[in-house]
Amino acid sequence: MKAAAPALALFLILAGHGPAAAADAASLYAARCGTCHALDPAAPEKPGPNLAGLVGRPVAADPRFDYSPALRAARGKAPAWNETRLAEFLADPEEMFPGLWMGANGMRDPGERAEIVKFLAGRR
Ligand code: HEC
Repeated sequence: MKAAAPALALFLILAGHGPAAAADAASLYAARCGTCHALDPAAPEKPGPNLAGLVGRPVAADPRFDYSPALRAARGKAPAWNETRLAEFLADPEEMFPGLWMGANGMRDPGERAEIVKFLAGRR
């Protein structure tokens, strides 16, 4: 049973990491996106569209949200949101959709972008 101690330690580290990482992603979302974007489809409207089920969803698909002409023009033309598109969007939202009304800068840190994308993809 000599190997048990390191294995147990590794297990504890890994087990501890999962929920902690998820909590970090959730608080990152809350800090950077949550003021403007609800994730619960039944949540009251916020300044931005509801992002429930975003990954896999077409662009500009929140029926309750009044999108900018830029996003309305992209509706049905731009590819649906997937992880790659979302990471690209977050790097520079206006570059993807000139005239966007998001009023939030992109995320410069690729690690943060990846974390948000993973978080949103996990809520599909
Ligand atoms: C200051 C408010 C605000 C913040 C903060 C914000 N957004 Fe937005 N976002 C908006 C608005 C408003 C729109 C709609 C823009 C338009 O109509 O041109 C939008 C649009 C979007 C869209 C397109 C949605 C669709 O239905 O196709 C995505 C994706 C998105 N935001 C993701 C994010 C993420 C992820 C974050 C956090 C990193 C974030 N936004 C931060 C206000 C915000």
